[in-house]
Amino acid sequence: MSRLVVVSNRVSIPSGGAKAGGLAVALNALMERQGGLWFGWSGKTSNDAKSIGTPVMVEHNGVDYATVDLTPDELEYYYNHFSNATLWPLMHSLPEQMNFDRRSLQTYRGVNVRLAEVLLPMLRPTDTIWIHDYHLLAMAAALRARNISCPIGFFLHTPFPSPDMLSSIPEAALFIRDMLSADLLGFQTNNDAENFCASAQRIAGAARLAGGGLQLGSRQIRVGAFPVEIDPQEFAETAERCGENAETGRLRRSLDGQSLILGVERMDPTKGLRHRLAGFRRLLESRPEWRRQTTLLQIAAESRQDVDAYQYLREDLERASGNINATLGEADWTPLRLLTRGVSRDAIAGFMREARIGLVTPLRDGMNLVAKEYVAAQDPDDPGVLVLSKFAGAARQLGAAILVNPVDPDEIADALDTALRMSRPERQDRWQACWEAIKDTSALEWGRSFVQALGRAGTEIPRSARP
Ligand code: G6P
Repeated sequence: MSRLVVVSNRVSIPSGGAKAGGLAVALNALMERQGGLWFGWSGKTSNDAKSIGTPVMVEHNGVDYATVDLTPDELEYYYNHFSNATLWPLMHSLPEQMNFDRRSLQTYRGVNVRLAEVLLPMLRPTDTIWIHDYHLLAMAAALRARNISCPIGFFLHTPFPSPDMLSSIPEAALFIRDMLSADLLGFQTNNDAENFCASAQRIAGAARLAGGGLQLGSRQIRVGAFPVEIDPQEFAETAERCGENAETGRLRRSLDGQSLILGVERMDPTKGLRHRLAGFRRLLESRPEWRRQTTLLQIAAESRQDVDAYQYLREDLERASGNINATLGEADWTPLRLLTRGVSRDAIAGFMREARIGLVTPLRDGMNLVAKEYVAAQDPDDPGVLVLSKFAGAARQLGAAILVNPVDPDEIADALDTALRMSRPERQDRWQACWEAIKDTSALEWGRSFVQALGRAGTEIPRSARP
């Protein structure tokens, strides 16, 4: 069997206590099952040639983890600037949040090449390589340029923008051609895959193939949607157990019979947090009967604090939440509780089970696993209601949630009012439909289906057609 080599900016070493975002959680399941090599950034910086050029190897449960440091300049221009202040807003179609400068672009390309060069000596001819996410758009091309002919897959965890939006960065065509060095390109939804194909055709001159692929020169590239999944059964068990633990018990007692509205995310400009707080304020202003009857617990774990937009967001949220509590609160009632620390997975699962409403309103989101976790966490007998942005990839599967436009505070307020009033039979019907959509999926199957499709893409494409 071919060895799987995963490449991603963040590497989640289970024993290392590294930050686990959606990407890491989804990939751990596959790696622990089939073993392989996982290569990427250590999460640290250094100017020492050895630490940036020689990977540190750790073996855990049959997986070899190989990580290298970035230099402080690389952290600044590759990670903070180009990845998180240019590509991240671009991928989420938020041009007003986007900065661009050439130096960052050059460093970004340089890091993609440098990481390819560090990976090179670790590769075997029979490997299957799977590259992840917007940090590494140029990696497949860098490997091909170094004569790597193994099957290469690329999966984008974020949305992919329309061709018009994509054209707003210089060198958009080059990025597309770089991505087309892979044999299989995976996206979260058909809409993202279609946006990519339209961009490849219009901006990079690729031809569409019958059956969903693309042709560029003599090469054929497969393109498909592979929606990321959670482990719903396991999350349901965790939530049932943690719904009764001490932490959830303290939260329940503090609510004193009020309905809990819960939001959980990284503090990120794409998550619609400013609009969400405006929607909650609108609910309390327009329907005063909910005052003292409900509390919003918003967990917004601090993230990417070296990027300006994230600092501004933090300041705005602290101001807006202080304002809601100061102007709408009472001596004995605080409408909004904002936490900017990370909270343990167990606590989140328990809080989700307690919450009458899961409020998930990103402006745009590749998938949004929190929406799926909220569904999995519910008591089937007395479930809560998911209020979900129609611009999250998860909305394609969870159409039985209350879907909202996340920029419209009135729509959010209406949805909250509807959810708070919803009868138990309607809540059960909606929940059942959402659960049916996810209950037989798993993170492991998601990974396997991509790797299997990559195996097929590799055999469908004649070797002579590879560069
Ligand atoms: C999103 C991205 C991941 C990223 C995660 C956490 O889920 O798709 O690639 O790892 O956010 O962000 P961070 O910048 O802390 O890695």
